[in-house]
Amino acid sequence: MSASAAQPRAEAAASAQAAGGAPFRVALLGHGTVGGAFAVLLSERAEEIERFNGRRPVISGVLTRSRGEFAELLAGADLVVELMGGTEPAREYLLAAMHAGKDVVTANKQLLSQHGEELFETARERGVRLRFEAAVAGAVPVVRVLEESLSATPIERIHGIVNGTTNFILTEMSAGASYAEALAQAQRSGYAEADPSDDVSGRDAAAKMAILARLAFGTPVHLDDVLYEGIEQLSSDDIEYAREFGLGLKLIGTAERREGGVSVRVHPAFLYGGHPLASVVGPFNAVTVEAEAITEITMSGPGAGGRQTASAVLGDVVSVMTGGARPPAPPLALPLVKDVANAFYLHLDVADHPGVLAAVTKELGEQQVSIKSVVQRGMSENARLVMVTHPVRESRMRAAVQAMAGFDFVRSPPRTIRVIEEEFI
Ligand SMILES: NC(=O)c1ccc[n+]([C@@H]2O[C@H](COP(=O)([O-])OP(=O)(O)OC[C@H]3O[C@@H](n4cnc5c(N)ncnc54)[C@H](OP(=O)(O)O)[C@@H]3O)[C@@H](O)[C@H]2O)c1
Repeated sequence: MSASAAQPRAEAAASAQAAGGAPFRVALLGHGTVGGAFAVLLSERAEEIERFNGRRPVISGVLTRSRGEFAELLAGADLVVELMGGTEPAREYLLAAMHAGKDVVTANKQLLSQHGEELFETARERGVRLRFEAAVAGAVPVVRVLEESLSATPIERIHGIVNGTTNFILTEMSAGASYAEALAQAQRSGYAEADPSDDVSGRDAAAKMAILARLAFGTPVHLDDVLYEGIEQLSSDDIEYAREFGLGLKLIGTAERREGGVSVRVHPAFLYGGHPLASVVGPFNAVTVEAEAITEITMSGPGAGGRQTASAVLGDVVSVMTGGARPPAPPLALPLVKDVANAFYLHLDVADHPGVLAAVTKELGEQQVSIKSVVQRGMSENARLVMVTHPVRESRMRAAVQAMAGFDFVRSPPRTIRVIEEEFI
């Protein structure tokens, strides 16, 4: 039986001694990209882990669709590591393991973002540990930093690039590729699945932001509560124009305190050059945590990949073995705020007739949208009006865009992209 969640490190060491240096048995559910890499990494690192911990971790059994039997694996394990993915039967297996008093480790963001509270509650009730560092940003240790290093710091905001596939695609688009070319390149390089919809729609990032919001603010956030938009509608033109305003384009997840509640969302956003996430390129992940006491801390690194993700999973295993993890905190109830204020980039294809700019600014003014900068390009029937606004409620910007789409001089649906205004230099 595993050490209880509240057990201090000295007791964990004592229980290792009581185990007489017996192997620490890890049941591995899933042996694909991450599971296979984890098994290799564990055997490579077992001796070193035994040296400081007194027990050698060993894989006591493996479950795949064609191999192993769950009940048998569970009976012979000290810890269950779930690397299957999907919500079922992963949920059922993790609950069964915790009910049997076993600690568990998972990398499963879909499961945690949809059934997190049930799993956390079970872990608390049974006094077992539930670790999930690899579920949010691969090898980037953001879960541990929020749970431990910053546990006494009231977090104000988290911004994250938590999907490497979309960051790779946007990096390629910034270098001149079209969306279709950049996606094809991501697939050839192994950064995007054959079916990339979870990544490019923003849903994968939304699952991760739901988990981060729960950690940072203590309030349960279900995947369905996260507003998300993907990158499929972006054009190289948008990136080109934004560059003129000194902006770069990223798919950004945001979790922040707003108006007595919490707002969690994922959407493409322009960043000024001074934002720490502006320089994150290629398939990397990065998370910026903001709080009054710390100003800003940014962590970045590989967000996926078998060996990289496996290293975060093995870190969780060691944390369980050494008694370093605390049980998940009980939930707080904070309202989820949906209609927040953002600065916007606005792109209009217009016929350049007298009075066009006046009509556009009048409509924006009626919705209390104030303009920070504006660029006009082209002439006669093919002019483009590109603006950056000051922060305004999303509902007001939507209303203005809807009205402008009806103007007879507007040639195609107006496009908007949010702008993140913070800079830390
Ligand atoms: N890949 C990454 O870079 C990455 C990064 C961060 C987090 N993750 C997370 O890590 C987890 C694993 O991802 P992966 O990329 O390693 O997946 P994968 O390559 O598809 O491997 C999944 C493994 O789980 C097994 N499996 C799936 N459903 C099962 C079932 N119903 N019963 C028994 N075994 C089952 C599969 O068995 P078969 O071999 O028989 O098909 C396979 O061995 C997911 O939660 C994923 O979100 C992955």
